[in-house]
Amino acid sequence: MKKVVLFFGILVGINTHAQLPQLGKAQLKDVISAMTMEEKARMVFGASTSGIDNSSPVLLKQALKSVPGVAGVTAPIPRFGITPALLADGPAGLRIESKRANTDATFYCTNFPVATVLASTWNKDLVQNVGEAMGNETFEYGADVLLAPGLNIHRNPLCGRNFEYYSEDPLLAGKTAAAFVRGVQSQGVGTAIKHFACNNQETNRMNTNAIVSQRALRELYLKNFEIAVKESNPWTVMTSYNKLNGRYTSETPELINTILRDEWGFKGMVMSDWHAGTNPVDQMLAGNDLLEPGKKADYDTVLNGMKSGKLPVSVVENNIEHILEMVQKTPRFNGHIPTNKPDLKAHALITRQSATEGLVLLKNERSALPLKSSLKNVALFGVYSYDLFVAGGSGSGQVNKAYTVNLQQGFSNGNIPLEPNALAMYSKYIGDSMATITNYNTTKLWHLPPYVLTEMAPSESDVKTSATNSDLAIITLGRNSGEGFDRKIKYDYELTDNEKKLLINVCDVFHKAGKKVVVILNICGPLETASWKNLPDAILVAWQPGQEGGNSIVDVLKGKENPSGKLPMTFSIKYEDEPSAKNFPSEYTDELYGKTDKKRNIDYINYEERIYVGYRHYSTIGKPVSYPFGFGLSYTSFKYGNLKVTAQGEDIVASVTISNTGKVAGKEVAELYITAPKGKLDKPKYELKAFTKTKLLQPAESQTVELVFHKSELASFDESLSSWVADAGNYTISVGASVADIRSKGVYNLSEKWEKKVKGW
Ligand code: BGC
Repeated sequence: MKKVVLFFGILVGINTHAQLPQLGKAQLKDVISAMTMEEKARMVFGASTSGIDNSSPVLLKQALKSVPGVAGVTAPIPRFGITPALLADGPAGLRIESKRANTDATFYCTNFPVATVLASTWNKDLVQNVGEAMGNETFEYGADVLLAPGLNIHRNPLCGRNFEYYSEDPLLAGKTAAAFVRGVQSQGVGTAIKHFACNNQETNRMNTNAIVSQRALRELYLKNFEIAVKESNPWTVMTSYNKLNGRYTSETPELINTILRDEWGFKGMVMSDWHAGTNPVDQMLAGNDLLEPGKKADYDTVLNGMKSGKLPVSVVENNIEHILEMVQKTPRFNGHIPTNKPDLKAHALITRQSATEGLVLLKNERSALPLKSSLKNVALFGVYSYDLFVAGGSGSGQVNKAYTVNLQQGFSNGNIPLEPNALAMYSKYIGDSMATITNYNTTKLWHLPPYVLTEMAPSESDVKTSATNSDLAIITLGRNSGEGFDRKIKYDYELTDNEKKLLINVCDVFHKAGKKVVVILNICGPLETASWKNLPDAILVAWQPGQEGGNSIVDVLKGKENPSGKLPMTFSIKYEDEPSAKNFPSEYTDELYGKTDKKRNIDYINYEERIYVGYRHYSTIGKPVSYPFGFGLSYTSFKYGNLKVTAQGEDIVASVTISNTGKVAGKEVAELYITAPKGKLDKPKYELKAFTKTKLLQPAESQTVELVFHKSELASFDESLSSWVADAGNYTISVGASVADIRSKGVYNLSEKWEKKVKGW
């Protein structure tokens, strides 16, 4: 009889072990010390695919069945009242299955704009709102932790996951991530800031060794995480796949225990990336609390390690404490019953609106934009204007959404007719070609190639017909990328031959007919633009703007929304200009370095450019770029005036008055850069230290904004001393509309050297 009750109890999740210390009621330490050695080992592994037999298979099955498609689960142990916590991707919205067995109901999630769009808004409040909506879907669908945001630095434009990440600058990445985390976690679910650290390429991501100086680590690759940890208290941190200076990040105690926990004060749980690292004992010792998703062999190693004394039990107990502290906060532990009914309509409006602020207007001549209301119709070129429009990238950053509004539909919703000849031409081309591509399903493919369909180069006579019939041409160029693969230079970073032909042809014919051409870039990251940007009249970067993308773009094209996005990375003139060009896997890796046993850029990668990533490089050596960091146009213009720099306690405060000097309402992003006085360490010419966005300013309206940062942010990392050091002297404070468009300068005098020693690595 007892057996039957116990079995029934497990089945329905009733706790029949009230006499044992219970999670949430007893002291955590008592719960942990009452566990068997096997249970202790069990707790530090994910539970979904491990095949370890001493967890609660019934409870686990129930949990997984309740939200199919989650990426991972923590182990439940019912006799201590320990419930499973469900961990689900990802950065552009919750990734779960949209269909479930035995029901016709659907479980679609909103595909919000990708991370790069959010960073391009430079609007922390907006990012927080998007985070709230994503957190709400996570909560309503019954997941506990959203495996996002990704905040790795855009070290090189070819990294296949850059669309999931924010910026080449650690301040912009860190502040954007912090706003996102605050938003998601305000809904009672957790986040996982990832991938800690230096997962800056996808090629051989599980094993490559990033060789990075302590200074570059401190100032760039850890700085973003430091800001996010200190400003938003994420529930969890996900370590990365790669090695960093010789050891897997998940096995590096200096990174996790020393820097993340002791120095930055992180109190949450650390989990590995999926199947990362090779030595579970080292991972435990390093402070990597949870190994996802968990492997039987690793479980045995940890268990035997504890039994043999090689792995102190106290280390594992400490890790379990972090896991259980997290579990206690989850909706599932607190009895939340998912409604499975988030307000998808409201979230569609949020994604539509937020994407418009992340669109970046790179060029706008002859008043090409906004579109005139008298416009008869638009000739829409490029396969990405139609069915191939990309809402978001592939891999774990992908979202199972109910629909995507492509540009064609966006125009239709915006009541702008399309020129029939171009429309018919593309419908036929796409229809015929897609019929032959059998395995194309964006929601099922883990990795999508840069483009699924070769761009069509329409004949001159076809373009002429369209030019005769219409007022304006729009050409969309698209790129996709995703997890596990980096992009290529040829035909990915660079345009394909057909894309070039299309651009040249359409611009030539339309311009001869006295009509304008607008290019939309529906891309995962920068493209080469320098060789063709003189051709069209306007260029708008739409990135991968989420499921309402077509509507967002048309809202901006029509001038319903005034673009206010700015580039979160530099667009270089050519790939070879990139400071990490030679130290990144590309089709030229062999050509540059030959084939060796340990292959450069594959097995290991030297971050030789040190701190000179992106604009830190270009601005310091004065190298021209195609479009600079922080750049973006508006349909109006802004004047900066009255810069005042003051010290308020330990803070440096720059106030500046921004006035709308144009004819339509708009928002402006103000960026503050510092230039340090000459000292012992070499320094970049400019370093972003603060930014802010104005409210919507009406024509002739002004707003005085404050850009604030702590004086410790003046410091650079001196490796020889293992110290942050800011030399005394005059720091130039430059406030501007981009790193290459400084509008006003001031000075801050640091009267005494500032120094802070940290534990060496
Ligand atoms: C990715 C993570 C993701 C995890 C779970 C890994 O392959 O690198 O970003 O959260 O899978 O899906």
